[in-house]
Amino acid sequence: MCGIVGYTGQLSTVEVLLEGLSRLEYRGYDSAGVAVLDGDEVALRKKGGKLAVLRDSLEHAPLPDEGAGIGHTRWATHGGPTDENAHPHLGDEGKLALIHNGIIENFAALRAELEADGEVFLSETDTEAAAMLVGRAFRETGDLTAAMQRVVARLEGQFTLLAVHADQPGVVVGACHNSPLLVGYGDGEHFLGSDVSAFVKFTPRAAALDNDQIVTITATDATVTDFQGNPLEPQRFEVDWDSSAADKGGWSSFMAKEVSEGPVAIANTLRGRLTDRGVDLGELGVLDDAALSTINRIVIVACGTASYSGLVGKYAIETWSRVPVEVDLAHEFRYRDPVLDEHTLVISISQSGETMDTKMAVQHAKAQGARTLSICNTQGATIPRESEAVLYTHAGPEVAVASTKAFLAQVIGQLLFGLHLAKVRGTMSDDAIAEVVAELEELPEKLSQVLAEQETLHELAHWMSDTRSVLFLGRHVGYPVALEGALKLKEISYIHAEGFAGGELKHGPIALIEPGQVVFVVVPSPRNEPLLHSKIVSNIQEIRARGARIIAVAEAGDAAVLPYADQVLRVPLTLPMLEPVLQVVPLHIFALELATAKGLDVDQPRNLAKSVTVE
Ligand code: AGP
Repeated sequence: MCGIVGYTGQLSTVEVLLEGLSRLEYRGYDSAGVAVLDGDEVALRKKGGKLAVLRDSLEHAPLPDEGAGIGHTRWATHGGPTDENAHPHLGDEGKLALIHNGIIENFAALRAELEADGEVFLSETDTEAAAMLVGRAFRETGDLTAAMQRVVARLEGQFTLLAVHADQPGVVVGACHNSPLLVGYGDGEHFLGSDVSAFVKFTPRAAALDNDQIVTITATDATVTDFQGNPLEPQRFEVDWDSSAADKGGWSSFMAKEVSEGPVAIANTLRGRLTDRGVDLGELGVLDDAALSTINRIVIVACGTASYSGLVGKYAIETWSRVPVEVDLAHEFRYRDPVLDEHTLVISISQSGETMDTKMAVQHAKAQGARTLSICNTQGATIPRESEAVLYTHAGPEVAVASTKAFLAQVIGQLLFGLHLAKVRGTMSDDAIAEVVAELEELPEKLSQVLAEQETLHELAHWMSDTRSVLFLGRHVGYPVALEGALKLKEISYIHAEGFAGGELKHGPIALIEPGQVVFVVVPSPRNEPLLHSKIVSNIQEIRARGARIIAVAEAGDAAVLPYADQVLRVPLTLPMLEPVLQVVPLHIFALELATAKGLDVDQPRNLAKSVTVE
């Protein structure tokens, strides 16, 4: 949601801003704009609609192309996605331009105050009030950093702000409060961005601002202070992927590419963390063995797909370490006032590391004295910085709104943590841990086999392109796989889809079954879980008897499902806790194929943003 770019240096400012905005498109947006300094004026262009509309307009009537500039993709909150509401907004009689990510909660009061004082608003946004306030503060202080410092003290809510002023050429000033902002360090140039993808094409050297900080960049300098003006030195890091990783690379969509990257995502997440027969998670820092020994309860907080990965993690971590694990949707967590103390470990899972609901859950956990661990895919993101320890997944950049390879890496991250905790607590023998480790090493290859064998899904998706409802059924770790299959389908193909636990069928959902209803059933291997397997086969029989059409995701050697399934999607045998990693991928591919068959934009489904940065 909302993308922010700032640049000052020798390159074509408009080109750098547009490049950065195109890299942030994945976050979701519905209008875009840029502002560059032009002598003693600000030159501005902003358009409702996609970036292509803005590009087109800039091609027909170019803006001046040197000096400092800011660019923005807006996901509408206050006011529709119109040209007027698009950012940047102006202050100080058009000499200042400002962009904003987040929500200024007290904007109505600020706006009333400014209107009473004669200001005329051109938009319905909360942002314009901030632009006017910074403009007024600049007139008093003559310095953009000082003006920003003065205004942030008046704003409530969460925000990242970037501003340029015509009287301070070559300078961009940013401020952040509960919203991300990163600095990119180039040679003779500096960048600002909502995440590193905004500038990684130009430099891998970055730093993430902490909460309540202000940054001032010029071509040669980047200085950071707190909101009171005290100088700070942010911790720098090198981005461990290059911009080509976030290119489509010949695939029809980012989602198709990212599904294909599943084996590499798993291998990279395992890399350096497996020893001969165990797991090495020295990176957990303060959550060392002594600290983990004191944990008697785990709560996993996450949203959407990440929460389904958490449900898989729950089964594995609890079974292996014998520590009770619960999973909470992050947005429900703090409102139920959970019982937390220093013996509770709250694990947040987030691909982006910026999901506001998850971040607020982590803050609540910390405030209640719980220990915090983040499982995150994005270096320098807010949630890992808010947490005591982080286990990065290394799935690489995920651009498509629908999360696929990140889900796999999140499951792997939790499996690694579960094994580590089991070792610390002595609840698993070395041999049992070594067995899982050996199987984890096999997983990328097994997943490659799954990817190579799903061509029937193309046909199935075409046959089903008019379907109005699809159900998904699973048990144990297959249950979150069913939930994930349903979410992916509704998210990108706009088809009603529901996931159920098999045992729940008779308690209600079976009423939905009518002749022709398609039901995907996630079947555990009979070699791993004979009892569960027979239970799910009974479920299949029950719904088949009522006319359902069954598509089973089943282990390659499972003959028992054959008589009852209309189609079987085969996956190789693995250990029970690892099955979701293989079983979920045919469901991801099915959703992708069906959305493609319907001619939909699979990467940017309607109404959705990749990174949900508001509550
Ligand atoms: C998944 O396909 C979704 N787009 C969504 O549910 C996502 O997983 C959720 O918003 C959490 O995002 P995060 O992992 O970046 O925190």
